[in-house]
Amino acid sequence: MKVLFLNGPNLNLLGTREPGVYGRDTLADIEAQVRERAAELGVEIDFRQSNAEGQLVDWLQAAREGIDCVVLNAAAYTHTSVALRDAIAATGVPTIEIHLSNVHARESFRHRSLIAPVCRGIIAGFGKDSYRLGLEAAVRLGQASA
Ligand code: DQA
Repeated sequence: MKVLFLNGPNLNLLGTREPGVYGRDTLADIEAQVRERAAELGVEIDFRQSNAEGQLVDWLQAAREGIDCVVLNAAAYTHTSVALRDAIAATGVPTIEIHLSNVHARESFRHRSLIAPVCRGIIAGFGKDSYRLGLEAAVRLGQASA
């Protein structure tokens, strides 16, 4: 099984970015923890970040080849991007929406997700553990469809 983790804008700044909201782990720290858990589960992962919406669309489209599940922290694009939503709907690759923070406990503009209706489920508010939980949910989906 292969799981693709995609990270959207400003997540490259984790570690120093609003640590009270997002914690002190860098994205590389989080990736290392995800890789450790993936090794235990025997799952192959790819882990990427881009600030560019079009790049994320390209990666979602490419996921049609060889990716069993996408775990997506679309960051701010969650709340704005019809393009990401359409890409998820177009490819049909099962996608799990994740967030470090509990977006529903924050500003009202974060309460709306344009991608949620085309995702299989949502994990939010568990800090870096949202990534591990996303991986575990992806594995469950894979087992259910096997
Ligand atoms: C985020 C929540 C988004 O609202 C925000 O724009 C982010 C990060 C999270 O992981 O908590 O950049 O996706």
